[in-house]
Amino acid sequence: MRVEVKREDPARARTDALIVPLSKTERVPRALQALDTALGRRIQSYLEAAEFRGKAAELVAFPAEGIAAKTVILVGLGTEEELNAEALRRAAGAGIKAAARRRAASVALVVPSVRRLAPADRAQALTEGGLLGAYRFDRYRELEEPRGALDELVLLSADAREGSALRRGVKQGRIAAESARLARDLSNEPGSVHTPEWMADQARKLGREVGLKVKVLAERELEREKMQGILSVGRGSANPPRLIVLEYNAPAGGARRRPTLALVGKGITFDSGGISIKPAANMHEMKHDMSGGAAVFGALRGAALLGLPQHVIGIVPVAQNMPGAGAYLPGDIVRAASGKTIEVLNTDAEGRIVLADALHHAQRFKPDAIVDLATLTGACVIALGSACCAVMGNNEPLIKRVQAAGDRSHERAWPLPLWDEHKKQIKGDVGDIKNTGGREAGASTAAAFLSHFVGATPWAHLDIAGTAWTTREQPYCVKGATGFGVRLLLELLRDWSAL
Ligand code: BES
Ligand code: MN
Ligand code: ZN
Repeated sequence: MRVEVKREDPARARTDALIVPLSKTERVPRALQALDTALGRRIQSYLEAAEFRGKAAELVAFPAEGIAAKTVILVGLGTEEELNAEALRRAAGAGIKAAARRRAASVALVVPSVRRLAPADRAQALTEGGLLGAYRFDRYRELEEPRGALDELVLLSADAREGSALRRGVKQGRIAAESARLARDLSNEPGSVHTPEWMADQARKLGREVGLKVKVLAERELEREKMQGILSVGRGSANPPRLIVLEYNAPAGGARRRPTLALVGKGITFDSGGISIKPAANMHEMKHDMSGGAAVFGALRGAALLGLPQHVIGIVPVAQNMPGAGAYLPGDIVRAASGKTIEVLNTDAEGRIVLADALHHAQRFKPDAIVDLATLTGACVIALGSACCAVMGNNEPLIKRVQAAGDRSHERAWPLPLWDEHKKQIKGDVGDIKNTGGREAGASTAAAFLSHFVGATPWAHLDIAGTAWTTREQPYCVKGATGFGVRLLLELLRDWSAL
């Protein structure tokens, strides 16, 4: 979709749907009075009749008469005090969904003036909400009448001084949202489609499109690298595992050493549980167990298109966890690439085993920091639900930074402990470490497991099991994959400085 900024009177905007965000109010704000007059005071009468009051997520649509647009969509922002970037994302998402339901091909959105938010941040939030709200995974739909393809979003601002800042925000928002849409697309594909080799193909394609170096380790290379973690987990499947490495390097220039950041994403392309097989209910959702990897693909795409001033490595171990004839077994002892041995008590705790090899591999690049994202534990979903992911790690400043980036993107992260107690809980009986520590503190013991493979590198682990998938429609999400983590990572990278 094209996104543009125009300095135009909303009454003159030739568009299928004019989206007008409004804070909670009883009176049409000054900036919209000319528009309301052209509309025959229609907005004011809605407010007076309390048909629309500007409450968050409130929506009213009516055929436009007296202006150039075909339809007007009023969308509530909530109270002025609550007004922040997330309110703008939600309003833009809800507005654009309403426009899409009306089969709009073009949409214009009035940029509200929000004193607390710089113009670039406003434009970024509106663009993110709009583009993510317009997302649907409909490539397999044949029966439903196709929706008109929404192909143009115009941000309208009367303030000439804001123009260039708004354009900057649009660029950032477009790249972030489109990268999150890529992550959603990857995760929403069925497990039988997004196999490890398919994921590798997508990485190669992405590399060609945006300029990333892509390396794929197939079985022979995995053997050579002694990555028995990835190989063991992949052994029960007819679709062999891979390790995908994506590399973005900032354009040369400047004498300063570019920081190197490693992003590692769990890429279990389907998690049946393996021999420790999962119950049937909701097992289909486990096609999205590669969402950490998808977020890493999205972040690398974004880093390249934004031309960020860093060296970013994306490492995605991809494997299908299946109970096939060659499957690894409960009781197996697997030697990870680092040399440490893992006692497999439960083949369903597979994510940490593939991540062990991937995190170890990350150290080869001598990164300043490692951030991993993984749909790792059901325990995290129980602890924190779907409103935030969990963050754990070995470096407080890094954890704080992840939280701050999460707040800015509203992909929020909340800390859980990672203490010696948790490390003790997974001490092996016959090997070095067990792959589960029982039901207590499941998210923390999973993180404790990972901590064995990051050496002394500053590291943060994001357990996104509760946030990568949604079973509820939300203002800028549909049911299915959310693309969670892409925007958080881009915010984290954007203002990176030495830890
Ligand atoms: N992929 C799952 C975790 C998961 C659960 C992701 C719900 C998304 C939503 C992971 O591989 C898993 O099966 N974890 C087990 C670990 C246990 C066996 C120690 C779990 O959490 O039950
Ligand atoms: Mn599992
Ligand atoms: Zn899993």
